[in-house]
Amino acid sequence: MKILVVGGAGYIGSHMVKMLLEQGHAVKTFDNLSSGFQDAVLGGDFIRGDLADQAKLDEVFDAHQPDAVMDFASHIRVDESVKHPDKYYFNNVSNTLNLLNAMVRHEVEYFIFSSSAAIFGEPEYVPIDQAHPKNPLNPYGRSKWMIEQILEDYERAYGLKSTCLRYFNAAGADPSGLLSERHEPETHLIPLALQAISGKRGGICVYGRDYDTPDGTCIRDYIHVVDLCAAHGMALGRLMATGLSRRYNLGNGQGYSVQEVIDAAKRVTGYKMKVIDGPRRPGDPARLVADPTPAREELGWVPAYPDLETIILHAWESLGVRLLSERKRRVA
Ligand code: UFG
Repeated sequence: MKILVVGGAGYIGSHMVKMLLEQGHAVKTFDNLSSGFQDAVLGGDFIRGDLADQAKLDEVFDAHQPDAVMDFASHIRVDESVKHPDKYYFNNVSNTLNLLNAMVRHEVEYFIFSSSAAIFGEPEYVPIDQAHPKNPLNPYGRSKWMIEQILEDYERAYGLKSTCLRYFNAAGADPSGLLSERHEPETHLIPLALQAISGKRGGICVYGRDYDTPDGTCIRDYIHVVDLCAAHGMALGRLMATGLSRRYNLGNGQGYSVQEVIDAAKRVTGYKMKVIDGPRRPGDPARLVADPTPAREELGWVPAYPDLETIILHAWESLGVRLLSERKRRVA
């Protein structure tokens, strides 16, 4: 198939491009490199472009006539979205609309959308199933929920079929070590803990130990990035085979606390790190754990790397490869 991967130079998108290429698809990556890296796109064609540029989108759709579009291009920082909602609604909503409108103009019917657990807000119960009320607490979560609702309207009006994949905590890296989690600035727990261990930063701050959880730290459902990407492939296959638009929660259904992640990182790497206790980070729910049953039953999705230590090991190995290549570049 011909697949256009928007935001394919980012963390999850670049893993998707690699997997699609390995599966034999013709892949075009479209990315403005605002937060992605061109060297993370391991094959296929790369087009540098911005979703705000409708003429460029028309050019890309005319030239490549994709069978389907996967969209990974969004800003992802909750705290930033509170400070700069304009940035989030412009990129995550308005620019995504430009993409959807280009799909409608060019009669491309199938869309896979990166949504987020942030659409649920403070959980009323866990594990969070697909029917859980959607009460996003911040512009980031709202931007994702808006697009989910817009997609329902676009299907009714224009026949655009979509699957929305609500990620819980994406983590890990491709076991090859060729790709890694790279965010500037980094805000996610696992890469920050590993950077603390590697000496790239002084330590890790635990944001709150007074939550209503067994050890007082927040619980999250960490899902390996390769498993997330596998779900995208299955979701597209099912969408094209059935024509039925769906929404799935993607997590392992197993939660780990911040302290458990720190302990696991020490075990996996064999190194210590400096741990500092800090205040709660605004907007962090105590527990976010997915009920992934529909993805398992309907897509046959069985995560290959559900184990936290494996997720951390792959992240650690990829960080090692990256630091080594950065050092080689500096020396050369
Ligand atoms: N944490 C720390 N110290 C750090 C970084 C994180 O204690 O230095 C804690 C956070 O408070 C949280 C947990 O580690 O309890 C995980 O935090 P991350 O920042 O790694 O991930 P989030 O759960 O905040 O965010 C993820 C996605 C978001 C999405 C959100 C859904 O990365 O895009 O889940 O609520 F919005």
